Amino acid sequence: MKNITIAIDGFSSTGKSTIAKELASKLKYVYVDSGAMYRAVTLYAMQHKLISEERFFKEKLIDELKNINLSFKFNAALGFGEIYLNDVNVETEIRNMNVSRLVSKVAEVPEVRRKLVEQQQQMGKNKCVVMDGRDIGTVVFPDAELKIFMTASAEKRAKRRFNEFMERGEQVTFDETLKNVEYRDHIDTTREDSPLVKAKDAIEIDNSALTRKEQFEKVYKLALEIIGQD
Ligand code: CDP
Repeated sequence: MKNITIAIDGFSSTGKSTIAKELASKLKYVYVDSGAMYRAVTLYAMQHKLISEERFFKEKLIDELKNINLSFKFNAALGFGEIYLNDVNVETEIRNMNVSRLVSKVAEVPEVRRKLVEQQQQMGKNKCVVMDGRDIGTVVFPDAELKIFMTASAEKRAKRRFNEFMERGEQVTFDETLKNVEYRDHIDTTREDSPLVKAKDAIEIDNSALTRKEQFEKVYKLALEIIGQD
């Protein structure tokens, strides 16, 4: 048995976190949601009035980065670690549309990325980790033994995200959700610092037509093939 690192990247709402959580729990690995970290920094910026739709006090946020402490605490009932921003559980709050609207702007800032990537690399230094995001296979763990790149049509992705919003009782329209998904994809793929791209050695999975079970079995099999190697 070999201890490995699993990197799952892809566009917004492709089901990365679903598959990453399932894999981590099956393999008894740690799951890290890197997007939650960018969302938590965004929430901090919103709480301190450093960002809104109209303006972004980028330099101030960079100055404030030293005061932003992010951690994950395992929640046994949920089966994964929830994110804490300066010791406050923000797991639910960071998923709302207000944060979704601004997060890609915050994630473009190289100083923010440097801080979060460093922490992510620390969390994965002993392997046995499944991390999902946009730059995990390219920047955070370029040597990851298994890299997955998830895709699905924008419509399908927006539908999934819209259903999540509805379940939480958030007041958003489908159109708004679709626009947000497309807007973030655009910023994430065109930014200068670590844009979202498929790593050369990543395996692409389009899950538009796959059930949750089918997608899990596909990725789990790939993981076992590597873990079983001497
Ligand atoms: O859940 P969803 O796929 O919509 O997004 P997320 O994983 O929560 O990430 C939110 C945002 O954080 C993304 O749209 C990116 O702008 C940014 N992000 C990033 O730049 N790099 C990562 N490794 C993870 C997220």
